[in-house]
Amino acid sequence: MKAVQIKGFGDRSVLELNDDVEIPTPAANEVLIKVKSAAVNPVDWKIREGYLQGMLNHTLPLTLGWDVSGEVAAVGADVTHLKLGDAVYSRPNIAKNGSYAEYMTVVADEVAIKPKSLSWQEAAGVPLAALTAWQALNEFTNLEAGERVLIHAGSGAVGQFAIQLAKLLGATVYTTTSSKNTELVLGLGADEAIDYKNEDFSELSDIDVVFDTIGGDTLANSWKTLKMGGRLVSIVEPPEEATATEYGVTASFCFVEPNREQLEKLAEIADAGNLKVSIDSEFGLDQVAEAHERSETGRAQGKIIINVS
Ligand SMILES: NC(=O)c1ccc[n+]([C@@H]2O[C@H](COP(=O)([O-])OP(=O)(O)OC[C@H]3O[C@@H](n4cnc5c(N)ncnc54)[C@H](OP(=O)(O)O)[C@@H]3O)[C@@H](O)[C@H]2O)c1
Repeated sequence: MKAVQIKGFGDRSVLELNDDVEIPTPAANEVLIKVKSAAVNPVDWKIREGYLQGMLNHTLPLTLGWDVSGEVAAVGADVTHLKLGDAVYSRPNIAKNGSYAEYMTVVADEVAIKPKSLSWQEAAGVPLAALTAWQALNEFTNLEAGERVLIHAGSGAVGQFAIQLAKLLGATVYTTTSSKNTELVLGLGADEAIDYKNEDFSELSDIDVVFDTIGGDTLANSWKTLKMGGRLVSIVEPPEEATATEYGVTASFCFVEPNREQLEKLAEIADAGNLKVSIDSEFGLDQVAEAHERSETGRAQGKIIINVS
């Protein structure tokens, strides 16, 4: 099969499209997925560069890509909830080979039936970013109805899902964005868009929850927006405990985990018409370097999709 692999860590030149990669055989608890679409996430090029080696210990060659939609092409002996031909989607284990390939094996418990109302491309754009938003808001900060949440980078892939999920939870949503994306974030339900290039979001106050998707100065300037007892979650860097204590708030770092049940709930939300997926751009398997280049700009307005078959 064809697969985009890396045999060493580095810049985009390490990406290789190979056409003689063995189709993997699913273990008893796995399914083989015939990949329709993959999505690019910033973690793909961070892994490609080798930034996460200390944490993930990948073996090479490695196929990148940890968002997938496709059809079940083989089923392991112990798998009961999926059958041949099922249309599925997944954010698989990031420590293993990914979805920039014609086929991949995934532990069945990380695989859910794809939302019926979404195209293959849209479905591939959901798992990693939407699970991140889900877990940050529901598990790490327990955002509740009536609370005020500040979501950074509302136009980013995670930010777009976070706005929609926060609104479904009944929160009031403030989000940072540049002016070119104001309409986009308001269209997703944000109550207030703050132009981070021309306005100072740190003048906000009495915020219950900050969702940091940027880190650095954005994280540093977010503490003072929180009310006493507020919660901050970052998906970019572990926040300083001492700073949280100083401000009388709690803070955590979320690293997304695969979760089939949550994917099933997200599919229900999508099929009820409550989860829009914006596609920033689409590429082929032979254009993964261009797709990474787009992601590395930090300017994407939604998901970057790789059309595989
Ligand atoms: N820990 C985890 O489990 C986890 C999971 C997913 C993602 N992440 C990380 O979270 C970050 C966001 O991921 P993503 O997929 O959402 O990224 P993305 O889609 O590439 O984000 C791009 C968006 O960010 C906006 N942006 C850039 N700088 C900004 C700023 N200073 N303030 C407000 N908006 C800004 C850009 O809008 P403009 O062009 O208008 O600036 C653009 O629309 C990445 O670092 C990623 O690695 C972590």
